[in-house]
Amino acid sequence: MPRKLAAGNWKMHGDGAALAEIDALMAAHPSPGVGILVCPPATLIHRMATRIGGGPIAVGGQTCHPAAQGAHTGDISAAMLAEAGASHVIVGHSERRADHGETDAQVRAQAEAALAAGLSVIVCVGETEAERDADVTLEVVGGQLAGSVPDDARGATVTIAYEPVWAIGTGRVPTPAQIAEVHTAIRAHLADRFGLAGADMAILYGGSVKPGNAAEIFAVPNVDGALVGGASLKAADFSAIIAAL
Ligand code: G3P
Repeated sequence: MPRKLAAGNWKMHGDGAALAEIDALMAAHPSPGVGILVCPPATLIHRMATRIGGGPIAVGGQTCHPAAQGAHTGDISAAMLAEAGASHVIVGHSERRADHGETDAQVRAQAEAALAAGLSVIVCVGETEAERDADVTLEVVGGQLAGSVPDDARGATVTIAYEPVWAIGTGRVPTPAQIAEVHTAIRAHLADRFGLAGADMAILYGGSVKPGNAAEIFAVPNVDGALVGGASLKAADFSAIIAAL
């Protein structure tokens, strides 16, 4: 998959009828020059992957359990996602960290399990509004990277998504300068820790990305694409974001 990536996170939205959006997306981008990934609820992964067949859109999960199997009611393993047709999984999304108390160590274990199952991983990091106000954004993001990204991360299989919590679903977007500051710090962290492999890792921005602001965000240095929530649910909106990448 190309390093430039437009990833859609459907969160807990979408039913069988929503698969029509995937048909429209495929029709709009028969041979995209950038990577396109859609992460639907787990219930739709197999149907979506089957519908896409060998098409140009990858399918991903929204989380996975660190264990391969076991007594973990309601959870799903990385191998199960892969068997259902996923090639990717998001880990450490701030909604998982907040709603399920996922720690950096747990996110790292999930990422390791995903890599072991042959999935590519998107590791999410990002500060809360209180942390930004306290001027500790770079420390928070640096700590999340150090704690959540596996030691054997490689550019082809690990992508970082910077999602300021206060920008998610709010319509509020950091300025290009604010995005650049954090993405540049992430790039430096990855290069320090992983050398050339770190320089190869894609860094996505996420948080209220829309057709109207995508081009400005994609012009920011070290922004390799986007992790899109609400605007990925409708093919027309997501397609416009893809076209801006
Ligand atoms: O993972 C994507 C996400 O958290 C951003 O959501 O709706 O602000 O694009 P949204």
